[in-house]
Amino acid sequence: MVVEKEDSVTSGEVEGTDEEQVELSLRPQSLDQYLGQKRVKKEMAVYIKAAKQRDEALDHVLLYGPPGLGKTTLAFVIANELGVNLKSTSGPAIEKAGDLVALLSDLDPGDVLFIDEIHRLPKPIEEVLYSAMEDFYVDIVIGEGETTHAVHVPLPPFTLIGATTLAGQLSAPLRDRFGIVEHMQYYTIDELEQIIERSSEVFHTAIAPEAAIELARRSRGTPRVANRLLKRVRDFAEVKGEDMISLETTTHALKQLQVDDEGLDQTDRKILRTMIESYGGGPVGIRTLAANVGEDMETIEALYEPYLLQHGFILLTPRGRVATEKAYLQLGLPIPNED
Ligand SMILES: Nc1ncnc2c1ncn2[C@@H]1O[C@H](COP(=O)(O)OP(=O)(O)OP(=O)(O)O)[C@@H](O)[C@H]1O
Ligand SMILES: [Mg+2]
Repeated sequence: MVVEKEDSVTSGEVEGTDEEQVELSLRPQSLDQYLGQKRVKKEMAVYIKAAKQRDEALDHVLLYGPPGLGKTTLAFVIANELGVNLKSTSGPAIEKAGDLVALLSDLDPGDVLFIDEIHRLPKPIEEVLYSAMEDFYVDIVIGEGETTHAVHVPLPPFTLIGATTLAGQLSAPLRDRFGIVEHMQYYTIDELEQIIERSSEVFHTAIAPEAAIELARRSRGTPRVANRLLKRVRDFAEVKGEDMISLETTTHALKQLQVDDEGLDQTDRKILRTMIESYGGGPVGIRTLAANVGEDMETIEALYEPYLLQHGFILLTPRGRVATEKAYLQLGLPIPNED
């Protein structure tokens, strides 16, 4: 059974709200329920089985990819499949080495420590993690002045699961200590459709197949977006008195939500528009772009840019990002002459 033990260093989220309960009920619990990410799942199934057969802790796992693709969900699924406890925290939540040591020494053999946003772990703490990951011990210095002394703390064998949206910001020594590194991919329309169907069952709401496909097409390849849009579309259907969410209501709701036919939202379009109208289509540096769009750099780099790149709305050049013809067409703007 997975127990998410609450701790003072666990990130300060509000607990037990309705929204959160819904979130939890949407989360797959086993690899079987976890849809998509076929390659990741196939690999993880082997590693989990081998670790269980040897009765050893699973090697450390790094999960990276854009927000909302299921990294946190997968960490919980892995612990579930291993039959161990999971303790959850996040990079910025661990302020002192002592916080980390307290977390680690409280684990049972084979347990999972999940560190979200691991690229934001303070450097001194990251260094403490090295020996913990490699040889299951930490050396810490306690006391002050003349009473200062080093203490060697042995730790139970454990599995660190780290999640990050910006793998490039992880230091090489930390990255190298993960035996298993998995890159999460955007989901296909088919996979998103299945996720939407599963979620609507959880909601006890029926959805027409063509409506589910339309939602899947406009979900930016991301389960979190799919679930969010489903919730809003369900509201529209409910107010209309539909007992099954129709395609018509879906397209109407998406229009109200300003999600376009490619699944781009207002911010996506603002990014493209800024690049085109203020910078002649680019190249634009990330800092300049972030300042003009009014989003922080990390959000643009982790959330918006990967999708715009993957779908050919922008290109990365050594001098910055440039808007492609597809971006002009999507916004209905005239394509400038090449010469
Ligand atoms: N493979 C999946 N199958 C079904 N639902 C999924 C899957 N992956 C994610 N979800 C749903 O999408 C939501 C977002 O997933 P999750 O919180 O795990 O993403 P994340 O990658 O950790 O995002 P972030 O980087 O923002 O922390 C979950 O609440 C879950 O309901
Ligand atoms: Mg997460």
